[in-house]
Amino acid sequence: MAQPQILIVGAPGAGKGTQSANLVEEYGIEHVTTGDALRANKDMETEHGTPREYMEAGELVPDELVNEIVREALESADGYVLDGYPRNESQVEYLESITDLDVVLYLDVDREELVHRLTGRRVDPETGENYHTEYDMPDDEEVRERLVQRDDDTEDTVQERLRVFEENTAPVIEHYEDHAGFVRIDGEQTPEEVWDDINEAVDERVD
Ligand code: AP5
Repeated sequence: MAQPQILIVGAPGAGKGTQSANLVEEYGIEHVTTGDALRANKDMETEHGTPREYMEAGELVPDELVNEIVREALESADGYVLDGYPRNESQVEYLESITDLDVVLYLDVDREELVHRLTGRRVDPETGENYHTEYDMPDDEEVRERLVQRDDDTEDTVQERLRVFEENTAPVIEHYEDHAGFVRIDGEQTPEEVWDDINEAVDERVD
């Protein structure tokens, strides 16, 4: 069988990036993530302004720009996990016009837990590895000292990202509930338990 085409959806902080890394390792597929692609091109000038202006305010970057990133990435991928897209109904329509999905994973996490995870998240700028101030700090002092907070992980921006999620992306998840490959995963378990559930669900649907 061809490599699996997987969509992972969930609110900001639900663990999409964390679990995408496991999917990439297990199935040898591409990680297609609009968030990382936009962060790598934050200051790119477009007719709508730069991605940075939208991201630092917690708002969605205009569809035209994001659709193009996804189209190019999917065209060259032999199997993928798509993370961070689609985030509104117009992006759903575009996605459905360019590809088919085998599995749709929805990571379900409560709002309070999301705020806690995001405001405590710290990133190693050299490796891109995520840590958390309360329960997951690196042992190496040099790494600890170079950790930074993502510009959009401050309390105010996190609240705005969650508002934008409720307004734009929650309907996207409802849309996919009817998809044959849809599965809801309890995202409040430990990362290892979440991965066990995902691995089992994907194996059942793609073998
Ligand atoms: P993006 O980068 O996609 O951010 P997001 O969806 O807000 O998601 P995050 O990366 O913050 O969270 P995640 O679910 O990946 O969780 P993670 O695994 O890191 O988007 C950023 C911005 O870009 C948007 O606001 C928008 O402006 C723009 N953008 C992107 N896509 C767009 C699109 N399609 N259209 C328009 N604009 C777009 O985990 C979070 C933390 O929790 C980490 O510290 C992690 O260690 C920890 N953690 C993970 N799992 C667990 C667990 N099970 N238990 C405890 N802690 C855990």
